[in-house]
Amino acid sequence: MDSRTVVFLADSEDTRRLGATIAHAIKPGWIVTLSGGLGAGKTTLVQGLLAEMGERGRVRSPTFTIVESYLPGGVEVHHLDLYRFQAPADWIDAGLDDLINDQTILLIEWPEQGGTFVPAPDLTIELEIRDDSRRATLSACSPRARMGLDSLDIAAANEADPANRDSTP
Ligand SMILES: Nc1ncnc2c1ncn2[C@@H]1O[C@H](COP(=O)(O)OP(=O)(O)O)[C@@H](O)[C@H]1O
Ligand SMILES: [Mg+2]
Repeated sequence: MDSRTVVFLADSEDTRRLGATIAHAIKPGWIVTLSGGLGAGKTTLVQGLLAEMGERGRVRSPTFTIVESYLPGGVEVHHLDLYRFQAPADWIDAGLDDLINDQTILLIEWPEQGGTFVPAPDLTIELEIRDDSRRATLSACSPRARMGLDSLDIAAANEADPANRDSTP
């Protein structure tokens, strides 16, 4: 896979499956941002990712709590949603810097709301609404993320999915 890959997601099951695929590349210490408007599928992707990591509990949107934390397979994962930030410095006020360490995975929805306080991501995931489906653009931003995503071959998995075959020549 290149450092940038576009994936068509026909339905929410596809979005969940992409999250599950990405779960196999993500390692402790990674920062992953999820961008896209309301309802683009960010939380759905995180649900697929955490389920694949072994999380058995319900994964709720952290829109109101700002952070929900999990320990699937003994790995600390924090799922953040900055949608309700009034200003980027809310990152500091909420104590979110304390969550960053090399044993912990951060999955951050609405990273734009945190401005420069948000740490540099390893992986960015941008979701766009396309009528009843979605389009995801994955960008690996660090050497470790490029290596991790190379091993997955997301593009090939995507082509193998009949839902993603284009019937027009
Ligand atoms: N690929 C997709 N195609 C159609 N609907 C989707 C897709 N992925 C997710 N959805 C649906 O979009 C809605 C919003 O998803 P959600 O993950 O809560 O979005 P966000 O966290 O970006 O606001 C949910 O009903 C979800 O099932
Ligand atoms: Mg959400």
